[in-house]
Amino acid sequence: MKVIKVKDYAEGSYKAFEIIKEVVVSNPNAVLGLATGSSPIGIYKNMIQDHQDNKTSYENVTTVNLDEYMGLEKDHPETYDSFMRRNLFDHINVKAENINLPCSIGDMEENVSKYESVLAKHKPDVQLLGVGSNGHIGFNEPGTSFTSRTHVVTLAEKTRLDNARFFNNLDEVPTHAITMGIQNILEAKKIILVAFGANKANAIYGLVKGEVNENLPASILQKHHDVTIIVDEEAGSKI
Ligand code: GLP
Repeated sequence: MKVIKVKDYAEGSYKAFEIIKEVVVSNPNAVLGLATGSSPIGIYKNMIQDHQDNKTSYENVTTVNLDEYMGLEKDHPETYDSFMRRNLFDHINVKAENINLPCSIGDMEENVSKYESVLAKHKPDVQLLGVGSNGHIGFNEPGTSFTSRTHVVTLAEKTRLDNARFFNNLDEVPTHAITMGIQNILEAKKIILVAFGANKANAIYGLVKGEVNENLPASILQKHHDVTIIVDEEAGSKI
């Protein structure tokens, strides 16, 4: 596991962007595993800027996202589908048919098996991750089996509280989501995890220095052969 400590969000976002760009330039048919939350927004801004300035092309890239909330209207601004369009897809030349997010409307058993088929065909060359303050990755909350695959989850109270800032009030935050499982994440060839701010310091300590334990889902990354963790001074203050 490679740990890169950076000064701030801007530097960390740029470093993560450089790794992703390298993957896309060396393989124009790359599969990018993408994430939501506030952590990757700066990376996406760099990708958009670079696409405009240097014409880096995403024409033949396929994307797979980690997760999606359940219970929100299709065009709600906080679905991860809306988030990805607003923060990345609407601004680069990725083809609509090459974009994949788990579907959270309709029959969930069918949605889970459909997403498993997508992931069987498209294994990420690089998977981008944030981390929850409780150590979740994707929406794999503490206690999730390390052997889990795509599944429906009940969100932890801590996660709903953390994410309430994106909604009008806590009641509006979904209680359930569909997420790639830990096994799906581990199947990526390369993983980049970014974390910024003091409320991530405990999770980063557990992830880098703690025991590999299902109570801290991110700790399993210690077992993957190609992981880069990028943290600012606050998130990295305990390692
Ligand atoms: C959500 C997402 C995670 C993300 C986490 C941290 O729960 N499902 O993929 O890593 O939030 O979000 P943020 O980057 O906003 O701190």
